[in-house]
Amino acid sequence: MTDQREIPHVLVLHGPNLNLLGLREPAVYGTQTLADVDAALEVLADELGIEIACRQSNQEGELIDWLHEARERFAGVLMNPGGYTHTSVALRDAIAAIDKPCVEVHLSNVHKREAFRHTSLTAGVCVGVVMGFGVDSYLLGLRALVAHVHKLSPVTSGASNAVARTRRAPTPKRRAKRS
Ligand code: DQA
Repeated sequence: MTDQREIPHVLVLHGPNLNLLGLREPAVYGTQTLADVDAALEVLADELGIEIACRQSNQEGELIDWLHEARERFAGVLMNPGGYTHTSVALRDAIAAIDKPCVEVHLSNVHKREAFRHTSLTAGVCVGVVMGFGVDSYLLGLRALVAHVHKLSPVTSGASNAVARTRRAPTPKRRAKRS
């Protein structure tokens, strides 16, 4: 059965060093890879009836360009800014500039870690933050973001950045997509 309605598109951004998930400090970040994270998000996106685009960069400027793109093309942003969380005024300014809801996520609970991780420059311009639950931080964050997007635009489900199209039937094993 098809459901003709507008589908919110969410941009998922992974910041620096997250391409090394699974290899990088597994005691802190776990053994799942970034592809595993994206695949789990795709399954949840199906369940929530949304589309996601997952991207990773080690470059601050590229992350900023993608945030600017979200201004026109996405209903919201789910973002793990990685180390830039604690250093990047430019990333914070980009989130503030795009006027789209952003949810910040972290695999680890940064408040249980070194003092320099206790400050987030980006959290203050995000709708909320989820941290400390490993990959579940992303999944909880996506649920919260989508609920927020629906509240902002309850009738059309984020019409300003959704496309009217036929909704796909959920498939249990959709592959993570990078675009
Ligand atoms: C992180 C926490 C940051 O402090 C760190 O620099 C990362 C990963 C996390 O997901 O727990 O790269 O964002």
